[in-house]
Amino acid sequence: MSLLKVENLSLGSDRISIVKEVSFVIHRGEIYGLLGESGSGKTLTSLSIIRLLPPGVHILSGKIIFKEIDLTGLDEENLRNIRGKEIALILQDPLSALNPVLTVGEQIEEVLSGNKAERKRRAIELLKEVGLPDPEMRLRNYPHELSGGMRQRVMIAISLARDPSLLIADEPTTALDLTLQIQIMKLLLSLNQKKGLSILFITHDLGVMRWIARRVGVLYKGFLIEEAPVEDLFKTPLHPYAKELMKAYSIEDSGTEMRALNLKTQEHQGCPYLALCSEKTEKCYKKGVPPLIAISPKRKVRCWHYEK
Ligand SMILES: Nc1ncnc2c1ncn2[C@@H]1O[C@H](COP(=O)(O)OP(=O)(O)OP(=O)(O)O)[C@@H](O)[C@H]1O
Ligand SMILES: [Mg+2]
Repeated sequence: MSLLKVENLSLGSDRISIVKEVSFVIHRGEIYGLLGESGSGKTLTSLSIIRLLPPGVHILSGKIIFKEIDLTGLDEENLRNIRGKEIALILQDPLSALNPVLTVGEQIEEVLSGNKAERKRRAIELLKEVGLPDPEMRLRNYPHELSGGMRQRVMIAISLARDPSLLIADEPTTALDLTLQIQIMKLLLSLNQKKGLSILFITHDLGVMRWIARRVGVLYKGFLIEEAPVEDLFKTPLHPYAKELMKAYSIEDSGTEMRALNLKTQEHQGCPYLALCSEKTEKCYKKGVPPLIAISPKRKVRCWHYEK
C-alpha cells in the first residue's frame, strides 16, 4: 500500500525550472532512496513534500498525495498537523536544527504532550530508543555539549517524538565520520524494521544508498532518470548515466561519493543527458525529453533507447 505518491511534480522559480515531472511512490514500511549528485534536486523535492520550499521556489505542477490527501492543496493550518507529526525531517547538520539555548530535555519535551513527569519519562524512553547512553544525564545537556553523532541521535529522537509515519532523512550521515555514519544508518534501519517507519532517504553516496534503501530513484538535473530495486540498479543499471555512475562505483569500490558528471553540459531541449551520453544516437537529437518508460513492473528508465 502506498503512503506517499509524488505525481509529475515540477518545481521552479519564476524564471527557471528546477525539478521536472518527478514521480515516485513510497510504500508503507519501505525505505525509498533518492540518489543524485549535488544540485540534482534531492533537497528541494523533499522540502516540497512538507511544503517548506525556500522563498522563490514554488510547486509549478503535480500532486503530492500523502495518505490519500493532496498536500499541494493544503492550507497552512492543516500543513502544521502534517509536518513533524505525520512527516518528520532530519537534516545533514543537526546543530543548525537544534536550539542552542535549550537543553536536550527541553527540546524533546517541547514536542510531547502530557504533564511534566510524563514528558520526562517519554523523553528518556526516546533517547534510549535512539541508543543515546546515559539518557537521564543527557537530558540536561545543551547541544554544544554533545558529539555530532549524539546530536544526530537527539534529532532523530525529536523527530520520532510524535510518532510520524514518514521520516525524510536528507543526507543525515554526510557530516559524520564513518563509524558514526554506520551507527546512525543501523539505527534508521532498526526503526524501519521494528516500528515499520517509512523512510525517504536522500544521499549522493552510492555505498550508503546500496546499504539502506530497498528501491532507488536516480535524479539527474531535476529529472528522475531511472527507478529500480536497489540491487537491480547496482548490478544492471539501464540508463547511460546510471551505468557511468555504477562503473565509477565499482572501480573506486564502496564509499564512493558521486562525481559531478555534468560539469560541461550544453543546454538542449531534449534528453537532459544528451551532451554527455556515450550511447546517443540520431534519434536522441531529433526527439524531446524522453518519458519515464516502464521496462518491467519494477523498473523505469527515461531514455529513448528503451522506447518500444
Ligand atoms: N532558493 C533557491 N532558489 C533558486 N534555486 C535554488 C534554490 N535552492 C536551490 N536551488 C537550485 O535548485 C537545484 C537543486 O537544488 P537542491 O538543493 O535540491 O539539490 P541537491 O540535490 O539537494 O544537492 P546537494 O547534494 O548539494 O544537497 C540546484 O541547481 C540549486 O541551485
Ligand atoms: Mg541537498
